[in-house]
Amino acid sequence: MAALIDYSQPTLWAAVASIVFNPTFWNIAARQEYHNKAITKLFGGNSLHGCYALAVTIFSLGIIRDLIYHFTLQAQPVHPLLDNSTVKAFSYGLFLSGNVLVLSSMWALGVTGTYLGDYFGILMDAPVTSFPFNVTDAPMYHGSTMSFLATALWAGRPAGVALTGLVWAAYTVARQFEDPFTTEIYAKRERERASGKKSS
Ligand SMILES: *[C@@H]1O[C@H](CO)[C@@H](O)[C@H](O)[C@H]1NC(C)=O
Repeated sequence: MAALIDYSQPTLWAAVASIVFNPTFWNIAARQEYHNKAITKLFGGNSLHGCYALAVTIFSLGIIRDLIYHFTLQAQPVHPLLDNSTVKAFSYGLFLSGNVLVLSSMWALGVTGTYLGDYFGILMDAPVTSFPFNVTDAPMYHGSTMSFLATALWAGRPAGVALTGLVWAAYTVARQFEDPFTTEIYAKRERERASGKKSS
């Protein structure tokens, strides 16, 4: 029986490192910003510039991770069960749906909404409930995970399916930190708005 995953490939471990590193990095950076204004200080007190810089950094790290993933898959064995036209057709649809979720949520949230603007004190006027947020609660994360899986299936590489599992786990852990934070920061603003109304 052919091996499912070739653990001797160094690219595999580079992919693992980069998948775990990215959400860890942006959560630590965002928390440093929230508690110490660390990024805003780097940008001379301009939190909008700080948020854009973080956005460019996270986006670039994502491209690097995707490239490593791409080269990792090429070095991994193809499994005969995945190497057929049904799987290819499914992966094509999955890739399209995943990208629709990612791109439409970026479109709905804008740059600061997508890239942790709330940690910089840059809040949306109201939480977005339109598409794709009426389909899934975390379209960016689910869409990205779907694209990873689609790429793995398209390439017929079980290693990619395993790495997609790791992507899913990394995003799940990240959401344990991010979702309660975002909920609380908008609740705080609601309380401030409400008390502002009473006193005026
Ligand atoms: C989500 O909203 C879009 C329009 O923004 C609508 O076309 C779609 O039917 C909605 N989907 C669900 C599941 O409510």
